[in-house]
Amino acid sequence: LRSVVKSVFLLFRCFIVIKMATSASAQLSKVVKRQYMELPQGDNVQAMYIWIDGTGEGLRCKTRTLDSEPKSIEDLPEWNFDGSSTYQSEGSNSDMYLIPSAMFRDPFRKDPNKLVLCEVLKYNRKTAETNHRHTCKKIMEMIDHQIPWFGMEQEYTILGTDGHPFGWPSNGFPGPQGPYYCGVGADKAYGRDIVEAHYKACLYAGVKICGTNAEVMPAQWEFQIGPCEGISMGDHLWVARFILHRVCEDFGVVASFDPKPITGNWNGAGCHTNFSTKEMREDGGLKCIEECIDKLGKRHNYHIRAYDPKGGLDNARRLTGHHETSNIHEFSAGVANRGASIRIPRTVGQEKKGYFEDRRPSANCDPYAVTEALIRTCFLDEEGDEPVDY
Ligand SMILES: Nc1ncnc2c1ncn2[C@@H]1O[C@H](COP(=O)(O)OP(=O)(O)OP(=O)(O)O)[C@@H](O)[C@H]1O
Ligand SMILES: *[C@@H]1O[C@H](CO)[C@@H](O)[C@H](O)[C@H]1NC(C)=O
Repeated sequence: LRSVVKSVFLLFRCFIVIKMATSASAQLSKVVKRQYMELPQGDNVQAMYIWIDGTGEGLRCKTRTLDSEPKSIEDLPEWNFDGSSTYQSEGSNSDMYLIPSAMFRDPFRKDPNKLVLCEVLKYNRKTAETNHRHTCKKIMEMIDHQIPWFGMEQEYTILGTDGHPFGWPSNGFPGPQGPYYCGVGADKAYGRDIVEAHYKACLYAGVKICGTNAEVMPAQWEFQIGPCEGISMGDHLWVARFILHRVCEDFGVVASFDPKPITGNWNGAGCHTNFSTKEMREDGGLKCIEECIDKLGKRHNYHIRAYDPKGGLDNARRLTGHHETSNIHEFSAGVANRGASIRIPRTVGQEKKGYFEDRRPSANCDPYAVTEALIRTCFLDEEGDEPVDY
């Protein structure tokens, strides 16, 4: 009898743990929901407007009905929201404008419905503090003849709603890092359903996702976006992040972009950024790459400040010089060196053309700020701690 009581108790405990780690709305019947999602909607189109809130990393969204399918961004109306509820303005003059900037297919409500990424303007139509797209676009246009390409590797960690990494023992730790990177098997890959769902949803939406893999820490994953030209790098990465949050919501768990979600001997999360221009991709482009790296070396602090939403404070927890990172206080560059700030891929070193990888951006970076900073330093020859006003 004792053992029966014990196993009933264990089962019950297991149940409690699962209940605690996933959200209540995830328990609602998805089969019942499907009945409604399949209803015809006439000529109406649901457009979900998405924007970055006042934290510079949080995303917000709301939906409106359009009476016909928008074919391009010009067909989408401006909208507004209450900025005092998104850390974006004080109570008076709290109306903020949403300016449609990029449109994708909606993988949740499906065609003809849309996801609409927006820029945020204040009541006086000046750009909101965390709207980094506005200047990024301006800077990209200044050098568009160079045809800049970016690729970004977004690392993230899946957490339960209790903030504990998904699938980790409720009091304790999984086995040390080693078997998890690109791992397969129930004891190595924690939460693959989310990764698979996110990948398909991005492809459906038209987000330029180019790969995914399990990362070094269990429950940590990566997806790659690119190559994207100019401003579209930020657009595609932000929408990929939105889709990830939304997929995680369906499963009742949370995606964290914190650069060091677990302290101690566990890898942090970054957003390595590949960068090239036409000149770098042509024969002998390595020379241009080396010139860029020289300029970047002279402006390390400016970049560190641009590479996370807290001016470098978030990244300070991650860039320790350990766990495949560089030290936040030192700039370094090297061929195939994963411990450097900037890495030149081995093939690029051999072929003497291609691209380089900036390994400093934090997982919660704003890709508009990162790509803008790279262009300012490498191609507008800016120096010093402040960006130039053009
Ligand atoms: N900004 C960019 N500019 C140019 N090429 C890019 C950029 N971003 C990504 N790429 C592409 O990424 C590819 C590198 O991906 P791949 O997985 O082949 O790397 P790899 O050569 O295996 O790297 P490694 O040798 O370090 O393992 C390049 O072939 C290149 O076309
Ligand atoms: C960046 O380059 C690396 C090789 O240096 C490659 O493995 C990775 O897939 C590229 N990522 C993106 C997003 O382009």
